[in-house]
Amino acid sequence: MSKDKFYITTPLYYVNSSPHIGHSYTNIAADCLARYMRLNLGKENVRFLTGTDEHGQKIQKAADASGLSAQDFTDKIVVQFKELWSGLNVTYDDFIRTTEKRHVDFVQRSIQILFDKGDIAEGKYEGWYCTPCETFWLDAQVSDKACPDCKRALERISETNYFFKLSKYQEWLVKYIESEKDFIRPVSRYNEVLSFLKNNRLADLCISRPKQRLNWGIELPFSKDHVIYVWFDALLNYISAVGQFDERGKYTSKWWPASLHLMAKDILRQHAVYWPIMLKALDIQMPKTVFAHGWWMMGESKMSKSLGNVISPVEMAGKYGIDTFRYFLLRDMPFGLDGTFSEEALVKRFNSDLANDLGNLVYRTLTMAEKYFDSVVPAVSEKPKAREIQIREKLDGLPEVISLELCPETNYNFSACLERIWELIAMANKYVEEVKPWSLAKENKAEELKGFIRLLVDVIRGVALSLRPFMPQTAESILEQAGTDKINKGKPLFPRIDTKSADK
Ligand code: MSP
Repeated sequence: MSKDKFYITTPLYYVNSSPHIGHSYTNIAADCLARYMRLNLGKENVRFLTGTDEHGQKIQKAADASGLSAQDFTDKIVVQFKELWSGLNVTYDDFIRTTEKRHVDFVQRSIQILFDKGDIAEGKYEGWYCTPCETFWLDAQVSDKACPDCKRALERISETNYFFKLSKYQEWLVKYIESEKDFIRPVSRYNEVLSFLKNNRLADLCISRPKQRLNWGIELPFSKDHVIYVWFDALLNYISAVGQFDERGKYTSKWWPASLHLMAKDILRQHAVYWPIMLKALDIQMPKTVFAHGWWMMGESKMSKSLGNVISPVEMAGKYGIDTFRYFLLRDMPFGLDGTFSEEALVKRFNSDLANDLGNLVYRTLTMAEKYFDSVVPAVSEKPKAREIQIREKLDGLPEVISLELCPETNYNFSACLERIWELIAMANKYVEEVKPWSLAKENKAEELKGFIRLLVDVIRGVALSLRPFMPQTAESILEQAGTDKINKGKPLFPRIDTKSADK
């Protein structure tokens, strides 16, 4: 794919339970980048894919517990994901469910291609299995019959299965990663994957499950007794959604290779080891970047459904507003690192960054335009003061600053972008205090007052334009109020939350 197209993906979330803040974080980040790219490259040149991972033992167990068939259960939960994304203004272009025919057919075709070329072979599997992680473990990796990752009880299994020859491609993968510095980001994760690959021999990957143990999955085209391992099925979504194989097995797509696969660090190995090897074996190009962000924590633990410590994004966005929620997630935790979620921290940022800084600047600017100029935006000053020139320079530089922060080299630093925008807001608010426009009015300094108000209007317009990918509703609202020659002041954007009476 050329540089003027952008194809971004999120993980396909398991539908064993409702989405939580962790899931919404990845999709809000992806939405922010997709919106940003649409503004820069044109809507038709951006593809944003999300969806749901619906096969496997985990889903089957959740369906059994709910008393529904697996299909009915997934049909029910998938609605919650779709509603959440529209409720958070997440503008995906395509939503793929791994139970859809387009995906199922594609997966069967892919696995047949790999079988025919000898990269998949039958073998015996004897070892441990962790159902919640859907992961196999060898005897040597296990102590106390507990999963080395999640510490939950493992099941002992012995069965005939099919194996994908990961090991055949290990050397190639190491060389590839070494030659493509942008392939895994941030750098800490790049180093982690590379050192894992250099210090361990990859075992071949068991990519089937006997139907007698699990039949909720895609059938192996060359064995009626097996379904395909859920990870092998799910990863293929990134290509099944945007292209197809021709009769000779050559893959073509308008969008592939992906520009960016986003996820958290928990599933980096699948994306940085299994996935490139699958693509290589299928003779398909590599994605440009696989980015693993950090985790939202609750105290010391990762926020996760299985730990029972999740917070509902629907509740947070409902209580404080969609853009407040988006702002908090993107601003509070640098992309790539872990962060702790707390409602208290969210309210604090609301009151300081949104009510005091942004909301205040917009409201006071529009109030002054209304009061002193009858809501007509005055002309730009012909004799700007040094401080005004400085503020304008900062304003004019914003788009460039943001474009430098939103790329793989700088780890898609949403937080830094917002920080830069808020520096401008702070400069403008400070300037209002310094200039004291009410005294300019009193002293009849009309020219100065005009230039001053025009500068502020330009600042809030520029802030709104820069905020479009991050806080789309807020940006739109500011532009509706201040975007044209005639000001159309509305209510304050972020009325302060009274924490004292909220405590009571
Ligand atoms: N189904 C697999 C992914 C298959 S992709 C082909 C899966 N699903 S999941 O429902 O467990 O989602 C994991 C992803 O959800 C993480 O990689 C991350 O994007 C997001 N998050 C889940 N919990 C999170 C946090 N506590 N913090 C940040 N992101 C989190 O794995």
